Amino acid sequence: MSSAPMSSAPMSSAHPSVAPTAVTARAGGPLRGTVRVPGDKSISHRALILGALTVGRTVITGLLEGDDVLRTVQAMRLLGATVTRTGPGAWTVEGVGVGGFAAPPETLDFGNSGTGCRLVMGAVAGSPVTATFDGDASLRRRPMRRILDPILRMGAEVLAAAEGDRLPIRLAGARDPIPTLYETPVPSAQVKSAVLLAGLSAPGETIVVEREATRDHTERMLAHFGASVRVEPDGPHGRRITLTGQPELSPAPVAVPADPSSAAFPLVAALIVPGSDLVLSGVMTNPLRTGLFATLTEMGASIEPVAVRRDGGEEMADFRVEFSTLRGVEVPAARAPAMIDEYPVLAVAAAFAEGRTVMRGLKELRVKESDRLAATADLLRVNGVAVEIDGDDLIVEGRGRAPGGGLVATHMDHRLAMSALVMGLASEKPVTIDDAGFIATSFPGFLDTMKNLGAEIG
Ligand code: S3P
Repeated sequence: MSSAPMSSAPMSSAHPSVAPTAVTARAGGPLRGTVRVPGDKSISHRALILGALTVGRTVITGLLEGDDVLRTVQAMRLLGATVTRTGPGAWTVEGVGVGGFAAPPETLDFGNSGTGCRLVMGAVAGSPVTATFDGDASLRRRPMRRILDPILRMGAEVLAAAEGDRLPIRLAGARDPIPTLYETPVPSAQVKSAVLLAGLSAPGETIVVEREATRDHTERMLAHFGASVRVEPDGPHGRRITLTGQPELSPAPVAVPADPSSAAFPLVAALIVPGSDLVLSGVMTNPLRTGLFATLTEMGASIEPVAVRRDGGEEMADFRVEFSTLRGVEVPAARAPAMIDEYPVLAVAAAFAEGRTVMRGLKELRVKESDRLAATADLLRVNGVAVEIDGDDLIVEGRGRAPGGGLVATHMDHRLAMSALVMGLASEKPVTIDDAGFIATSFPGFLDTMKNLGAEIG
């Protein structure tokens, strides 16, 4: 890439260095009660971004008020939208319209959030403004080339980037965005969404083809805000998404359902802690997000949907979950996009199952908040569980129990932290994590939520 190198140090924004907080989970009584986990992270980011690209006032309820989403709130403000909190989870966004972002007066700092950063890069690519994107040490390690490739084709320009096209990156949006047909080289809803958001300001049709369908919240929400979006099957597992550019988006209320990726933690905890019986309420059941539910059901889990309903373009249900005897299964690679964030906690469930669980096709896990493939294997290994990585596959030998007793390195990764604590609730010896701080990126209140259900965490 011909952009100027950007050295990390002077661009570094304030990442307050909070001392890491170690937390321990141990086996105790059953988990019981009803819990509504926080709002869906993917939908929360999108509601703020699309609200900012709409002329008029978008009303959002149930927004996830985790660190990741609050970074997107701040980014939308810096780009000129008025974003106001009106009550717990209740927010309004007064948007600036498609292509109407203002040049942000300071760096857009996305902290730990790959989703916020990559989606906003797409949105900025379609506005004639220059913005600097940055994040914490974890986000600075993550690949951005996958976003830059399509948006450069659409007319955006990289003015500066750190080595390897990583953050911090200074990006100039396109004055006259060019519509594109883009086949995503990796199964990534973030890449797809960035292209569609940039395509909003391009004339004519922007088309994304994905070989494996990934979460479709952007497509659904664009339609909810009045854009013309056509989704057609393409190949055995793929989709072709066609967006007509330069729409007048009109404000539409967004009620954010509970996040299935967060529900996964109390769900697996209830399955492995004897005597547990929980209700998880209002959990989104979008089929491109519920691969974990399908896999656990195949493993013998008792997960029963009770009240199924629909709101704001998404489906949701309450789920009753009871302690279950689990057996090992093979999870096909084709299911990975529908449960990409759930493998660490599935690996924990697999340790408590009887027999071998083989999870195939996990290459993308290597570029999450941490190298989640290696870190998940380490999580199990330090707690006495037999585990192996074979190429892109993770293989766990379930023995119906786990010795525990490990200190788990969480690598600035919220999902590893929560998965390890869930493991501690059912292992023979307590499990300790090195830092619970990053849990707040996606599941503020996780420790209290689990304690209220009866978990021994502290
Ligand atoms: C997300 C997409 C996924 C997922 C992330 C949220 C989104 O990332 O891991 O937590 O909201 O679009 P990829 O698109 O990189 O797979």
